[in-house]
Amino acid sequence: MSEHLYRDSYLEANLTFEDDKITWHCPQTNDTREVMMDWEQPIMTKMAEVAVEAGDHVLECGFGMGILSNAVQARNPASHTIVECHPQVLVKLNEWAADKPNVIVKEGKWADLIDEGTRYDSILMDTYVDDNLHEVFDTFAETKANDGCKVSWWNFSGGTTDEWMMFYWNNVTFTEVTGLNPPENTYYNRDNYFIPLKILNAKPVGYGVEESTLVSVSNTDKVAFSNVRSIYNGVLTREDTNDSTANVIQEKIEPIKMKCAGIWNINNGLLVATGNHPIMIKRSGSWVEKIINEIQVGDKLYKIDNTEVNVDNITFDSSDKEYWVQKLRHNEDESFNYFANDILIKIK
Ligand SMILES: C[S@@+](CC[C@H](N)C(=O)[O-])C[C@H]1O[C@@H](n2cnc3c(N)ncnc32)[C@H](O)[C@@H]1O
Repeated sequence: MSEHLYRDSYLEANLTFEDDKITWHCPQTNDTREVMMDWEQPIMTKMAEVAVEAGDHVLECGFGMGILSNAVQARNPASHTIVECHPQVLVKLNEWAADKPNVIVKEGKWADLIDEGTRYDSILMDTYVDDNLHEVFDTFAETKANDGCKVSWWNFSGGTTDEWMMFYWNNVTFTEVTGLNPPENTYYNRDNYFIPLKILNAKPVGYGVEESTLVSVSNTDKVAFSNVRSIYNGVLTREDTNDSTANVIQEKIEPIKMKCAGIWNINNGLLVATGNHPIMIKRSGSWVEKIINEIQVGDKLYKIDNTEVNVDNITFDSSDKEYWVQKLRHNEDESFNYFANDILIKIK
């Protein structure tokens, strides 16, 4: 039975709130699922301990039973923003928050906050049947991080080796919680658990196009791909052609299908991308950072063989169709520039 069935019906579901758990009945699968259970208390307490310090600006995604929220409050954050999307849980959250002046409630999905400028010292992710999680959480957190931001999340595997669970980040550390005693349930049945922690630094804002940046770019394979931030801030896309000739630039690329609000096509398919994707172009003799929809006929693109490609024509497909995009899983310590169809693109 597909996870999507749960995703599709969770938000409309009537949740059952008991002292020790929140559950719901999924009509399509005809089974009862736990959203949250109180045996997780030691995990949540420890999570707050490893990821929240007094005075932090905290972002918590998913309120559930408020166990983690209470643990965060106990650590005296400067501010505590909680984002929650289920209407019944929101009622509980608003009641809980009523006497807590440092709590800010955001109604909706955490991914909708990506374009808000606020940054945080601590980001805690514990959602449920979350359609955005593996596609955008790492980029989301990187965008929202203050320097030294502590990021922690629900570790569905419970262990320390699952790369999917670690969002392909390097240097994730773990704190073990032992002595758990979960009653049999549909999501976690082990007596120990490892809390993940990733420290992020604030992403540098703005950077010039220096010669050294251009020549240090080392990725050379041909493939059109994108980073997932693109869902909000621009993508490089290719249509689903099952193109077996495309070389994948890095191992960890996950194609996802998504709707794009219009696609720009530069030089008859040389670059096919959404308008907000950053790119470097040469205009009036200097390299500048622009976004795709600012490119003009006559601009130059940088090609991998160190030549320049003149922009001869630009078309825009405004239809709302679905494209396959591939997320570039870049190593965060490396340059974020890359090539698509031999043309230099910029991720951040
Ligand atoms: C496992 S519970 C959170 C438990 C919480 N950490 C606690 O200590 O009680 C997951 C919560 O995330 C909420 N949720 C699911 N998807 C979400 C999303 N995309 N954005 C915000 N909240 C979400 C669910 O409605 C649910 O309340």
